[in-house]
Amino acid sequence: MCGIVGYTGKESVTDQLLNSLELLEYRGYDSAGIATLNGETGKAKLRKCAGRVKDLRKLCKKDKKVSTCGIGHTRWATHGGVSDTNAHPHRNGDVLLVHNGIVENYEELKDHFMLHKELKSQTDTEVVAAVLNRFYHGNPHEAIRETVKYLRGTFALVIMFSDQPDVIYAIRNVSPIVAAYNENGTMLASDVVALGSSAKKYMVVPEYVIMELHKTEIKLFHLDGKPCEAEYIDIDWDTTRSGKGSYPFYMEKEIMEQPDALKATMESRIVDGKIDLSADGVPDEVLKDCERICVVACGTAMHAGLVAQSLVQSKLKMHMSVEYASEFMYADPVIDDKTLVLAISQSGETIDTLEALKYARKQGAKSIAVINVKGSSIARESDYVMYTAAGPEIAVASTKAYTTQLITLFLLIGRMAKVRGLLDEAAEKGYLENLVQAPDKMQEVLDQRQDIHKIARQMLDAKDAFMIGRGLDYSILLEGALKLKEVSYIHTEAYASGELKHGTIALITENTPVVATVTQTKLKDKELSNIREVQSRGASVVLMVKDGFELADAEYADVFTLPAMADEFMVFPASAALQLLAYYVSMDKGLDVDKPRNLAKVVTVE
Ligand code: AGP
Repeated sequence: MCGIVGYTGKESVTDQLLNSLELLEYRGYDSAGIATLNGETGKAKLRKCAGRVKDLRKLCKKDKKVSTCGIGHTRWATHGGVSDTNAHPHRNGDVLLVHNGIVENYEELKDHFMLHKELKSQTDTEVVAAVLNRFYHGNPHEAIRETVKYLRGTFALVIMFSDQPDVIYAIRNVSPIVAAYNENGTMLASDVVALGSSAKKYMVVPEYVIMELHKTEIKLFHLDGKPCEAEYIDIDWDTTRSGKGSYPFYMEKEIMEQPDALKATMESRIVDGKIDLSADGVPDEVLKDCERICVVACGTAMHAGLVAQSLVQSKLKMHMSVEYASEFMYADPVIDDKTLVLAISQSGETIDTLEALKYARKQGAKSIAVINVKGSSIARESDYVMYTAAGPEIAVASTKAYTTQLITLFLLIGRMAKVRGLLDEAAEKGYLENLVQAPDKMQEVLDQRQDIHKIARQMLDAKDAFMIGRGLDYSILLEGALKLKEVSYIHTEAYASGELKHGTIALITENTPVVATVTQTKLKDKELSNIREVQSRGASVVLMVKDGFELADAEYADVFTLPAMADEFMVFPASAALQLLAYYVSMDKGLDVDKPRNLAKVVTVE
């Protein structure tokens, strides 16, 4: 959470920082700030305010002096409320600092260094700035080295010292920092999308290594002062794709990009009509030897795991648990060297998933990470990585990351079934024939988006809504409900429809909106009869039904027909429909679709 940036080079820094911060707002958007250092006058300038980067931009408009070195921050508040004072950067003496992460022992540090009188904000970050300044006597490395010895928690610290013109220093533990250069200067950010479109390569700054950004070069040093070799990764995302194009919101653009993203994710993994994971380097033995599978993930990524669970049970006849990463290690999970852990994450930085993965590996588990962001912490922590090819996902609500996670999991499970002798050639062929249809089936739904928009219009005044279904439909709806609640603020519960009559049906009254998906042959009749039960209590039911399923006469508020695929693949068209529903409700309510209140895209606090 929180986005940080830094730039030093030939160009005016203010616009560079503001533009990059706008691209990082998905990480937090409570307040924003920048600090610039003028190499000629030696003067540092601080501009910060509660609100969005656009508010900060207004504040910076009057600034006349041009600086070419600066740091910036967009905040998701953890310690200290949303206010101008708590906004970053923080200054103490010669130190100007922005921070992403949480320094857990900041109260202890206040006492230890007797800082109470000099602090203006309630943040942990200002404490770090003060400690850095205590240790700063003209030697930045010494100050950083001494300070980090005292810090407990996660941090990406980006620092300017007012008497060190044109140089930016950075160090991190867990929280990410990436860096790159071009002909005009050097830059750093929390995420590669903010590095600017002209950079061709970037590096992930190693943990506990001091980085110096100079105007023409980037240097890395171990804490003992020895130089550290930088490892650069090609930027193979088209960073210009990270713009909204002609769409009003990233969420719509990202929903529409799904067919291409699915194709790109499958492309290198289907060779001569067979699933081939050799490019991912996942050895068949790992897939063959494990006795159980465990998914650790959060939010949408966890929902992708739930869909995979049905598939694992039906295709592999194996037990698979799907755990909230945040609960995982506190529940004393049974993990050993026969366990294969799947860590699923778009960002690759979700701290709960990262910690759960580390815990499982300590117990001897093998791990495969399904990740979108290359070189991210979870990718580096895992034994093997399967990257999704979703490209940059900017909207806080995850859409294309989810469906590319699904397709990756379908491929992984297909390969597992093959190497375990549970999928013969003919069955593999059939499986893949279905899978490769997923992009087109999603496209069919996307092409009918105006019909879903009409359905969305009926839900604008709803305070509560339910999504009901059984089996795979229930797993699909858990994600559908998360989408609707996070972007529309309608309290939405996904419910296994057979469970309703054990309590929750008491909440169904006249006109309660209920969205039901009916996509599973073996459950269809039972699902339809559960729908009847809520209709009898006055619910207004929107039905999303697989094409070809016969419906007995019944009145529905609306019916949307989902293009038919084999049952286990219906998640693809159904998810597109549910994503669009959430999107249109949010848009028509006039909400900030891409940046729902209280949320941040990358959750790096536990
Ligand atoms: C869903 O729309 C959210 N963005 C959220 O639930 C997200 O999936 C979760 O925070 C996990 O993030 P990750 O995939 O980056 O680990």
